[in-house]
Amino acid sequence: MSQKDDFSIHFIGGGNMASAMIGGLLRHGFLAKQLTVVDPDPNVVQRHQASGLNGSHLFEAPTNEPDMVIWAVKPQSFKAACTPVAPHTRQALHLSVAAGLTTDALSSWLGTERIVRAMPNTPALIGLGQAGLYARPAVSLLDKERINQVMHAIGQSIWVPRETDLDAVTAISGSGPAYVFYFLEAMMDAAQRMGLSAQTATQLAVGTFEGATALAKASSEPPGVLRERVTSKGGTTFAALEHMRAHQLNEHFVQALMAARHRAEEMGKELGSQ
Ligand SMILES: NC(=O)c1ccc[n+]([C@@H]2O[C@H](COP(=O)([O-])OP(=O)(O)OC[C@H]3O[C@@H](n4cnc5c(N)ncnc54)[C@H](OP(=O)(O)O)[C@@H]3O)[C@@H](O)[C@H]2O)c1
Repeated sequence: MSQKDDFSIHFIGGGNMASAMIGGLLRHGFLAKQLTVVDPDPNVVQRHQASGLNGSHLFEAPTNEPDMVIWAVKPQSFKAACTPVAPHTRQALHLSVAAGLTTDALSSWLGTERIVRAMPNTPALIGLGQAGLYARPAVSLLDKERINQVMHAIGQSIWVPRETDLDAVTAISGSGPAYVFYFLEAMMDAAQRMGLSAQTATQLAVGTFEGATALAKASSEPPGVLRERVTSKGGTTFAALEHMRAHQLNEHFVQALMAARHRAEEMGKELGSQ
């Protein structure tokens, strides 16, 4: 029997992120009977029960303490959600996907040190997420292996050595999909101003991002070299990139991401002191 057949998981919160994780876990060989969902909304509970999971709208002390608890509630609901759960899950490994809440706050609310914090992003909803993970020192190698198995269900993950690195992860990949959508919108806007239809604009912009990111992933060359390969001096790409350079687009973009990291730091302080 593989490890994934061995451990039980309780989800606290059964909304978007929990549903994405549960769907991925079931596709990756976890069994519905290993998974329990607690959510105050009876419709949410019913939906998960229809997939064969155990579900309840109220946390009830389990006969056997779960091996893992996954916290998928909004940050502002977290502290209140801990009250009924914490006394019955002190031996469990805890994984939080809640944005901004530090493991110091979680540890004091849950009464345990075995806590991992994840910062996923929205492509996790289709199994293509990119997450950052941070573990408190009490988390063992086996614990980390189990977290890897779970996170694999919603895409790729990377461990960071310091919890403060998660603020940078939030700025880069957590908020990152919004930057990509922003550039897609700008490309589509330009295409339509050049007289192309909305449908053509969407296909050209989305298809270009898809192809270029796949090329960057498949290539051994860094993105800068790939960019230079499509930029002949005096050509069309050169004209566009010179315009961007003259307006310091790169520096503005870097500063925008610094602003996102600063906000992540501020939010961590605000949420931790609730
Ligand atoms: N969605 C994303 O792409 C994404 C990305 C990165 C991080 N996250 C993080 O993931 C977490 C969940 O986000 P989400 O988008 O999945 O939110 P969501 O769809 O609103 O799901 C949260 C669920 O938790 C339920 N809940 C509230 N209080 C509870 C309690 N005491 N016990 C059990 N369940 C409770 C909510 O019920 P009610 O609605 O009835 O209150 C809701 O069904 C958040 O902390 C967010 O920061 C999400």
